[in-house]
Amino acid sequence: MLEGDTWTAVVPGGFEETIDFCVQHFACSCQQAVKERGAFYVALSGGSTPKAIFQKLTSPPIANLIPWNHVHLFWSDERSVPPTDPESNFRMAMDAGFSKMAIPANQIHRMKAESDIEAHAKEYELLLRDIRLDLVMLGMGEDGHTASLFPNTEALDMLDQAVVANYVPQKKTYRMTFTFKQIHAARQVVLYVLGASKKQKVSEILHSHAMYPVSLVGTRENKSLWILDQDAIG
Ligand code: 6PG
Repeated sequence: MLEGDTWTAVVPGGFEETIDFCVQHFACSCQQAVKERGAFYVALSGGSTPKAIFQKLTSPPIANLIPWNHVHLFWSDERSVPPTDPESNFRMAMDAGFSKMAIPANQIHRMKAESDIEAHAKEYELLLRDIRLDLVMLGMGEDGHTASLFPNTEALDMLDQAVVANYVPQKKTYRMTFTFKQIHAARQVVLYVLGASKKQKVSEILHSHAMYPVSLVGTRENKSLWILDQDAIG
């Protein structure tokens, strides 16, 4: 286990062992939240690593250990596309297996980012106002972004709002995203970082304290948990 002021990191092994660790961690967090508070509020992300986690999580045997009827799904970011688009983070999660789980439809809260992103971001913020998320599941892009908090974008400094429309010049598009305010309000924030393509950034961030958006995830009081595989840590 590695430790910084605002993060803790674990390296469970190679890709498969690490995905197993991620799904076990999700199942335990969910079981504990349901036992203590009767519900599990979780925010998902997009990307290939979250997808691999979602597929395993929604397949037996692990899927049978999760009290799906008490799960409430949210998203930490969304692309400005309809929910049927292959680029949609909502669609990715549903297709990866969540659509087959017994989660009541009124407990699945997709981000509506295909139109009026600003107005819909305000609605999403309202929806979350009285909820404390149990788990925020985040990935790390190769440029050091997380959720849709890309380097040098305005949302990085929007600390009064919880959910915003963020213009991402790198992608020439808007995205809806949690801000750090919303991320840090969660009970637990996990960063899933797997694969050799992440190695350079991981070394810069965890060993040399380089500043990217993902470096800012976690506080002294509420440390983020980085789950890395051997390829990502090098
Ligand atoms: C998105 C994401 C994004 C993602 C990372 C990691 O919508 O693109 O939410 O933050 O999680 O880019 O993606 P990979 O696992 O594919 O590297």
